[in-house]
Amino acid sequence: MIEGVSAPEMVTLKGVTALKTFADFYGDPVGCVEKMYACHGPVIALNAPLLKPSGVPQSYLFVGPEFNKKILLNQEHFRPTGAWPTPGKEGTPLQNLRRNILCMRGAEHDAHLAAILPLTGKSQVRSFFDGAKAITAEEVSAWPIGETVEITHLARRLTQRLALELLFGSDSADESLEFGELVDEFHQNSWSRGALSFRVDAPLTPYAKLMRSAEALETYAKEWTAAEQRCPAHNNVRAAAANVALANGETVSLTQAAANVAAIAMAAYETTALTLSWMLFLLTQHPEATKALIAELEGAGSLSSLDADGIEKLPLLDGAVKETMRLVTPVPVIGFEVMEDCKIDDIALHRGARIFISPHLTHRLESVYEHPRRFMPERWASIKPSAYEYLPFNAGPRRCPGIWFASANLKIALATIVERFRFDLAPNTKIDRGYAATTIAKNGVPMIFSPRDACYERSACAGDIMRFFDLSETVHA
Ligand code: HEM
Repeated sequence: MIEGVSAPEMVTLKGVTALKTFADFYGDPVGCVEKMYACHGPVIALNAPLLKPSGVPQSYLFVGPEFNKKILLNQEHFRPTGAWPTPGKEGTPLQNLRRNILCMRGAEHDAHLAAILPLTGKSQVRSFFDGAKAITAEEVSAWPIGETVEITHLARRLTQRLALELLFGSDSADESLEFGELVDEFHQNSWSRGALSFRVDAPLTPYAKLMRSAEALETYAKEWTAAEQRCPAHNNVRAAAANVALANGETVSLTQAAANVAAIAMAAYETTALTLSWMLFLLTQHPEATKALIAELEGAGSLSSLDADGIEKLPLLDGAVKETMRLVTPVPVIGFEVMEDCKIDDIALHRGARIFISPHLTHRLESVYEHPRRFMPERWASIKPSAYEYLPFNAGPRRCPGIWFASANLKIALATIVERFRFDLAPNTKIDRGYAATTIAKNGVPMIFSPRDACYERSACAGDIMRFFDLSETVHA
């Protein structure tokens, strides 16, 4: 806290208001935290005795860089809740898959993370540069011209191949897409509101669909991981996950290794695919920014002549990636379980309570970003927010290990697409926000690719996503 500035007061929502807020959060977490912050300020407690009759507020939202820092540095008391919300019975594939690196803590987490870090560091990612360019060129060259395509689908196919072939040692596009489809199905089913609210494994229920997709994924992930079990850990993520050195000297079980392989795969491709889709969407809304980006890329020569250093040196390309993740933050809300009674400032938190921070809200603070609702890739040439002010990849000891891999691949993908095509939204597009641990477009992002030209104009778009932005553009000289 800044000296002389008092801590923000906590507002506690109770009774019907708290219940209604819980329901809103369940339906639309991002819309709900926006409303909570606008109405009640940066520290809000929800106390709904009907849901947990302890009388103690059991959920909290903390907004802003200082709270982000306090919470993210306090690993002792807070455990991330993970990416797959619907629980299963102990020992089921569903529950096995949910118990993965994303929600581990302490020595167990450190051991699993240490195993994959050597594969995702900056220098290792540079060695993937040519492979990433080749996979991207192959995928993008198959994108049709003049037809309406669902860009998130194409982006997901691309990022599954990038992650699974380069990081996980998959042999072929077919193998990558087969595993990717199983992970994707499990991820979608995990976020089905039906499965979450009616957890009965009876024929035709969403929960049964989730259980079957968990069984199929676990079986495949175990076989796929076992195939690399005898290989050196530095070969790829599968080998690393299967050879984790646990603190007690034991070897990791295949069930645990497979759960990590599935979770890391999802963490790697899904976030990157959504960022690529939102980035193209934002460019369709900002023709001036797109033209400036094209000019920068043309000035740098063809993509095939660019190496890993060259692509790093393009400020608007870098800015487009960063600005997209600032404005449509892939993981907009991060939740934690309180593991022991503790305090944040003077606020007592009880064991079992849930706390949330919001990178989405932090990225829109006027105190940190000028014109926070505008898309301004050029701003990144002159700003350097702290790790707790800009945190699309989380921050602190649990910062995402995929930061270098994702950033490099997003730049390669955008440069490849811009070099080849003009892209517009399909006529009559309406984009509404959805949520599945990540910010998604409920019905996708329909786009049309044309042969490349410089005639960019803003594509018309309706839907609630438009409330996220102020479309005013800086005019580039
Ligand atoms: C644009 C792309 C990406 C974004 C925005 C992103 C964002 C994040 C965020 C916010 C978290 C914290 C989640 C939480 O605690 O609930 C996280 C964790 C993680 N991410 Fe990423 N990620 C991206 C790409 C990747 C890639 C390419 C990999 C591949 C290795 C990856 C692997 C992981 C892992 C293993 C964790 C868990 C780390 C831990 O708990 O210590 N991510 N990521």
